Amino acid sequence: MKTIKIGLLGLGNIGTGTYKTLDMNRAEIEKAAGTSVDIVKILERDVDRDRGITVPKEKFTSDPDDIFKNPEIDIVIELLGGIEPASTFMLTAMQNGKHVVSANKAAIAANYDKLIETAKENNVIFRFEASVGGGIPILGTLTGPLCANRFEEVMGIVNGTTNYILTKMTVDGLDYDTVLKDAQAKGFAEADPTADVEGIDAANKLSILMALMFDKYIAPDKIPTTGITHITSEAIEDARSRNCTIKLIAHARKLDDGEVDYKVAPMEISNEHPLAGINNEFNAVFVTGNAVGDVMFYGKGAGPLPTGSAVLGDVIEISKTIK
Ligand code: HSE
Repeated sequence: MKTIKIGLLGLGNIGTGTYKTLDMNRAEIEKAAGTSVDIVKILERDVDRDRGITVPKEKFTSDPDDIFKNPEIDIVIELLGGIEPASTFMLTAMQNGKHVVSANKAAIAANYDKLIETAKENNVIFRFEASVGGGIPILGTLTGPLCANRFEEVMGIVNGTTNYILTKMTVDGLDYDTVLKDAQAKGFAEADPTADVEGIDAANKLSILMALMFDKYIAPDKIPTTGITHITSEAIEDARSRNCTIKLIAHARKLDDGEVDYKVAPMEISNEHPLAGINNEFNAVFVTGNAVGDVMFYGKGAGPLPTGSAVLGDVIEISKTIK
């Protein structure tokens, strides 16, 4: 049986989660892929950090060419985060004939067209399920089982940090600063939470969703974006008096003239709507298709194992094709 060999870029939280998920579920993953799957090289300088996994030291490298120029490697998994060098690394991997899997919403949203085009030019597969909604299988469902639809609308709670903050403000009546500190202490919010609380992370994810649903790529910095930093306890109470809950929504809608209207903003959602009940760090994506009607996807939008689950799902799909 062929072994699919993987080069992993980055062994941070998500890289470690992916490595752990492969160790934990190797039998299921290899059965589904129909091949054995092995992470053979890891681009990571921090060799000695205790990650709770055992990685043979010879797998580590600090030279990306040990992965890009390695003829044995079939798939490169990019889990570095940030736009650069991640984007350049993905393009280089493709130009060297490697299939690419990424969870990096910022890099994909910033360079979507270039990445898709380069994958096509080099006849390699590019998959990025984990970049939107973490473990929720949304992208593969939009482009697979739901692709017979003309999509009309998407409303997504696609950022766990802001949903956690808004939930605690709504349910426990706490103010924004107190909850943000609590979220940071629990590890939900980053030490620098700007991309989350200003809606930038949600705009990256909406950019990817729109590209797939409406075949319309809009760079995230062109998406009108408002975060949650100005949301007060009074605004939450006002919404409650109207039987609504404030949620940060990534929203896009096809207009009658074929154009797409899009934005990321805190919105008052009627408590009758299923998105109003999505709490804490959970994500949900509510999609309307002209044939299927309304569908909602719910689950863990972040975290090492849920994200690792989506990354390895992509690895399995590629392995099935190339084995
Ligand atoms: N910072 C992101 C969130 C991580 O809070 O949802 C997952 O993309």
